[in-house]
Amino acid sequence: MVQVAVLGYGTVGSGVVEVLEKNKDKITSRAGNELNVKYILDLRDFPGDPYEDKVVHDVNVILDDPEVSVVCETMGGVEPAYTFSKRALMAGKSVCTSNKELVAAHGPELLKLAKENKCNYFFEASVGGGIPIIRPMNSSLTAEKIESIHGILNGTTNYILTKMDKEGADFEDVLKEAQEKGYAERNPEADVEGHDACRKIAILSSLMTGKYVKYEDIYTEGITKITSVDFKYAKALNKSIKLLAMSKDEDDGYVAMVAPCMISQEHPLFCVSDVFNAVFVRGNMLGDSMYYGRGAGKLATASAVVADVVDAARHLGTTVTCLWDEEVLKLKDYQNSSKKFFVRVKEEGADKAAALFGYIEKIQVVDGEFGFVTEVMTEKEFADKVEQLPEMITRIRVEF
Ligand code: HSE
Repeated sequence: MVQVAVLGYGTVGSGVVEVLEKNKDKITSRAGNELNVKYILDLRDFPGDPYEDKVVHDVNVILDDPEVSVVCETMGGVEPAYTFSKRALMAGKSVCTSNKELVAAHGPELLKLAKENKCNYFFEASVGGGIPIIRPMNSSLTAEKIESIHGILNGTTNYILTKMDKEGADFEDVLKEAQEKGYAERNPEADVEGHDACRKIAILSSLMTGKYVKYEDIYTEGITKITSVDFKYAKALNKSIKLLAMSKDEDDGYVAMVAPCMISQEHPLFCVSDVFNAVFVRGNMLGDSMYYGRGAGKLATASAVVADVVDAARHLGTTVTCLWDEEVLKLKDYQNSSKKFFVRVKEEGADKAAALFGYIEKIQVVDGEFGFVTEVMTEKEFADKVEQLPEMITRIRVEF
């Protein structure tokens, strides 16, 4: 029997216990061993909960118990999860986590610790919730030179944007709904300002390059400035607006960015709605592949954590290779990357816009303003032009 401890009995932690219980037989045969939840660490008590007798408040009970060989870290946040994970790994216990904040901040160090102590640091649930993407990146796609990754990596913002698009709903109301459904982070700013997606693309970029892509180096924009009028323009252009997390090998360097983008109906990511996430990977041999599923929510995320527990149980005493070096990768300045831009301008700025951008095809969806899509240009070229266009209302990047 493999003894498991769960750190944090919140949405994901309680989901882990539920998945282990509901699919016990299948999990036992796949792990080659029975998995038993011996402890649940939480500050709270859970009177009446079927697992209340497993709840402990002192992490040392778990770390000092040699019987525990796998720890699920479902606490979220950097501390105390970082300290607990380090101590568990140093004690030779594998750690399986859904904590993207911690993985993005200390992934390479924790992977190194796992290797030194002949155990594993697994983090499938840290990106895309229940979607298998870490394991494909780390095994199925190892023959590829990955050219680009485009992801819808935050369930909350995708849920909000979908409702704004389909129902003309207001941002605040939909955010409340997403929070009630357990999709949002404790601090919703992490979702709506793009920080959560930024951590996730930092993790994927690190696995793509084998180096350490620091989330602090990734240019990030959220969705708080997107309005219902923007969606009217998007519809007129047969496009939608999605919060994209992107990472590209541009030959002269890697560029990573998180920003709301217009994408066209023909692109597979266009159909990714509600809480669903997807990761669209372009490799130089395979071509395009896409990984799709529930990006947030209790059981979907817990399923990925439990899959890691099974893998940890299958590899007791050995470390599964994960190429993520401690060497920091210097990203190319995003200002030098190129794309098209959708621009909204007040009517009185029409002549100036034409002078700056050349021929523009005007789209009119509301009075007093117009929109247009630029040619491909660098972020810097675009910024220089719009500095001379105070009549600009807003701009949204166009991908695909
Ligand atoms: N708040 C995150 C999301 C949870 O909405 O995607 C999953 O990481």
